[in-house]
Amino acid sequence: MKHFEFVNDRLIVLDQRKLPFQKEYVVCKTYQDTYTAIKDMIIRGAPLIGIVAAYGVVLGFKEIIEKNLEKDKIHDVIVHLSKSRPTAVNLFWALDRMKSTFERIKDMDKIEIYKQLLNEAKKIESEDKNINRKIAEYGNQLIKENSNILTHCNAGALATGGYGTALGVIREAHFSGKNVHVYVDETRPYLQGARLTAFELSEDGIPNTVICDNMAGYLMKLGKVDCVIVGADRIALNGDTANKIGTYSLSVLAKHHGIPFYIAAPTSTIDFSISSGDEIPIEERDEDEVRIFNGQKIVPDTSNVFNPAFDVTPAENITAIITEKGIVYPPFKQNILKLKD
Ligand code: MRU
Repeated sequence: MKHFEFVNDRLIVLDQRKLPFQKEYVVCKTYQDTYTAIKDMIIRGAPLIGIVAAYGVVLGFKEIIEKNLEKDKIHDVIVHLSKSRPTAVNLFWALDRMKSTFERIKDMDKIEIYKQLLNEAKKIESEDKNINRKIAEYGNQLIKENSNILTHCNAGALATGGYGTALGVIREAHFSGKNVHVYVDETRPYLQGARLTAFELSEDGIPNTVICDNMAGYLMKLGKVDCVIVGADRIALNGDTANKIGTYSLSVLAKHHGIPFYIAAPTSTIDFSISSGDEIPIEERDEDEVRIFNGQKIVPDTSNVFNPAFDVTPAENITAIITEKGIVYPPFKQNILKLKD
């Protein structure tokens, strides 16, 4: 099975918390289940969060039919889902699409509304897969033969409808015959790099080496990194980009060492309503994610813990942003606006 699938009015998702050693699925029967899947990071990654939320709206409407509630109750469902995680704008983008679809068809009978909401969610899913392929093709133009590429977190198939953004570019380079090797930041505290990215790359036979997050600078100093490619959770109009915590530090290191730093993301990750990264809400997660490692306490109870899930990389540290509509170079402010439909 794929990493998620909507079948028989249920959304079945692969539990990413258990990877790579256990393949367990969680069945979402209600919109509250999809809320939990997003909030508890059973699934994660900006584009996938959007897709799962869209299916959450479908499940919410199913409940409206079953309990014979007012159609407009769907707005409460959308508000609830919007509170699952704050940073990835794809969540709000997908919910807005579902809301506009509902507004357009709300006078139809309930069964027809359900069908059309389901179609819209499926469209969001299939569009994302195609978008990733386009990002991969554009991004591959930037990858030189025999490259050592460093990536952070997981911007792969698992984080999207399929194929991946940053990992999509790397896959495309590999499958088009380029000899590439990937340094994978382990990405504390949730270990998306060690558990998910290394898993995806290894499954595809792409040579990879996992490093602890604090080793990237040393590798760069040794001249072992040719470029950095990461995904994004929200991009502001000026190009400032929120991504997994640690991305900012990498960008500073890359700039210092004169290494190209690329963001790969769909245009649904661009928040055209904000002018800079200062306006991006940064999620803070439970301190136990840092305090406890592998079920074991590793921090003295008397110490405080800080656990921001994202940081913002300033546009000046970014060489280019790879989207499905092409590669965007500075000046970002001017060029990002051209991507607006
Ligand atoms: O907390 P996560 O695992 O949802 O964070 C994921 C990331 O930061 C990814 O790099 C980003 O969402 C892009 S995924 C294509």
